[in-house]
Amino acid sequence: MAEMAYSPGLEGVIAGESKICKVDGEKGMLYYYGYPVKDLAANADFEEVTYLLLYGKLPNAGELKDFSKRIRSCRAIKAPVLRMIQDFPRNSHPMELLQAVISFLSGYVDHKIEHSPTCSCRSTLHQIAQLPSVVAAFHRFSNGLEYIEPREDLSHGANFLWQLKGVEPDTDEGEIMDKCLILHAEHSFNASTFTARVVASTQSTCYCSISAAIGSLFGSLHGGANEKVMAMVNEIGRVENVRPWLEKALADKRKVMGMGHRVYKAKDPRSVIIEDYLQTLSKKHQDTSSYDILKEVERVFREKMEEKGKPIYPNVDFFSGAVYTLLGIPSNLFTPIFAIARVSGWLAHIIEQREHNRLYRPKALYVGEMDKPWQKLEDRT
Ligand SMILES: CC(C)(COP(=O)(O)OP(=O)(O)OC[C@H]1O[C@@H](n2cnc3c(N)ncnc32)[C@H](O)[C@@H]1OP(=O)(O)O)[C@@H](O)C(=O)NCCC(=O)NCCS
Repeated sequence: MAEMAYSPGLEGVIAGESKICKVDGEKGMLYYYGYPVKDLAANADFEEVTYLLLYGKLPNAGELKDFSKRIRSCRAIKAPVLRMIQDFPRNSHPMELLQAVISFLSGYVDHKIEHSPTCSCRSTLHQIAQLPSVVAAFHRFSNGLEYIEPREDLSHGANFLWQLKGVEPDTDEGEIMDKCLILHAEHSFNASTFTARVVASTQSTCYCSISAAIGSLFGSLHGGANEKVMAMVNEIGRVENVRPWLEKALADKRKVMGMGHRVYKAKDPRSVIIEDYLQTLSKKHQDTSSYDILKEVERVFREKMEEKGKPIYPNVDFFSGAVYTLLGIPSNLFTPIFAIARVSGWLAHIIEQREHNRLYRPKALYVGEMDKPWQKLEDRT
């Protein structure tokens, strides 16, 4: 086989075939199994989209009813898992807990089925169902509050808010939370998804694949930009401060969080939808302060970048932190929410990887030394 050109970070390298997701960066379009994400966000709920990702087709009414029932019945956390969350060091990040919990959960499933390399993962819905309960439990224990049992009558997003706050969200808030999960559910061969596929390619379990993917998502170059957007909004404080703040940030070569994308060279379609949610929530809470600051950041930043011939648009993280904040969610849970959503995409990729598996084993371009003479221990400095 001919030597391939080295591409740092595998940028531009095609690392596999997939039917799950198409990101059209030029047109600013995102598709899950061929369906534009804006249509899914407008019409489906998270469980329906999860079914689409796991089975490659939209469910009919009966299939959706059974699937929702199955996921909802897996939401409750077993007592030992709850004790583990309670005992987890309080100063840990919830992403560290999530990663550990997935391994712990794998001990509570039927080993013969779930740990077999041929397990379809479709029967293994604990990861999808229980991540919101785990994140909510961790948050409540960290704040000296009691764990709240899940409810089977609520959507995935609404139940998460219920378990987090102990107050049933109204229809708008429950729907917005659920639809934010849809928008974060899948995004092709990003770092965490690729991690999941690499682990799956060794015929490891889907629990090991998901746990590795969570570790990958934890890194600040992947998940976590929306947390930094909210830190930026707080630092700016008022709309009048936007221009001087941005001028200084750009002079200091600081990156403006939530702006720009490696793949999208047009508006990220998810940011357009999430902006709508932020407008809805800002009006409802009669608090447009974050929205006003973000819009001014977008306007001034784009003006500055266009002067340099660099059209740069908001990405998915630009408005989502402000949406979560208005939903009463603290910023250390933003990346865990990403995991709550993306676990559906990871499982879809694990299934697809297993169907046409080839072990991932790239080569390294060796740049070290060769044929060095052996040195006795006493001769080494
Ligand atoms: C996502 C990101 C890493 C993509 O970077 P990239 O692939 O270099 O993007 P581009 O090639 O389009 O960048 C073109 C230029 O604009 C600059 N640029 C891009 N996004 C920028 C940002 N948010 N703030 C300041 N400058 C930015 C780049 O540094 C580059 O400048 P250069 O030509 O002087 O090197 C980058 O946009 C970024 O760091 N954004 C902020 C973090 C963020 O929101 N991450 C979540 C992504 S979903």
